[in-house]
Amino acid sequence: MTSAPIALQAPSDIPAIDLAGVEKWYGTRDEPVYALSPTDLAVKEREFVVLLGPSGCGKTTLLRMIGGLLEPTSGKLMVEGKPLWEGKTRREDALADLGMVFQDANLFPWMTIEQNIALPLELKGWTRAKRFERAHELCSLVGISGFEKRWPRELSGGMRQRAAIARALSYNPKILLMDEPFGALDAMTRDAMNLELQRLWIETGKTIVLVTHSIGEAVFLADRIVLLSPRPGKIDTILDVPFARPRTTDVQASPEFQLIVKRLRHRLAEIS
Ligand SMILES: Nc1ncnc2c1ncn2[C@@H]1O[C@H](COP(=O)(O)OP(=O)(O)O)[C@@H](O)[C@H]1O
Ligand SMILES: [Mg+2]
Repeated sequence: MTSAPIALQAPSDIPAIDLAGVEKWYGTRDEPVYALSPTDLAVKEREFVVLLGPSGCGKTTLLRMIGGLLEPTSGKLMVEGKPLWEGKTRREDALADLGMVFQDANLFPWMTIEQNIALPLELKGWTRAKRFERAHELCSLVGISGFEKRWPRELSGGMRQRAAIARALSYNPKILLMDEPFGALDAMTRDAMNLELQRLWIETGKTIVLVTHSIGEAVFLADRIVLLSPRPGKIDTILDVPFARPRTTDVQASPEFQLIVKRLRHRLAEIS
């Protein structure tokens, strides 16, 4: 019997996310709001991209469109090689590749942490035993083991955000979308969460798109920073961040880090 030749799998050159001319208008015919001008952007698999820009420039709009929560006015949006929309219909198979985390954890207060985390799996029809096994595993992944049976109100803000991340990862999407996930946390917790997020990203190999208006957070986390100009949002600059991984807090004190922060701050001031 001959054994089958081993097929070496070439790295996929299909982008995880691919936007072509994606544009958004809000409002009514009488009072239209132009939120995002036609945007082209490709995010590679396992890449960490940060969308940075002044308040109101369309970051949330862009992220919600990538997440399938908001329909583009025009343009084409592909997720893992599949169109997210076919006409007015959203493709559920593309949605399965996407998990979302928002600024507020949005946990249901009447459910325990594990019930919250397992909820998307319940909606997908997983058995109770499998759901709670997965919730347990996820609590360990995000560093809240032992808090499975607690109520959201018993956890700190940072821990609630960890639970929200666990919930977003419950069905193992390839892509994690995060909208100012640490914006409501104090500075120290935020730094700790950034380190944790980097660890999680390295460990899981997810593709991450994160929105922030913090320049320091963007430079610390990103492989690539996409700087958006004010409304209607438009990509102003795309910047590669060269620091090796895993990054530590030491990198933030380096002159190279400070230089990138300074350049971005100047550019933001110029365009705002
Ligand atoms: N549902 C909506 N209806 C009308 N205008 C909106 C709506 N949502 C957002 N906008 C406007 O679109 C622009 C972009 O908003 P948003 O994407 O939330 O910006 P950011 O997240 O960068 O702060 C803002 O001017 C905002 O006021
Ligand atoms: Mg926003």
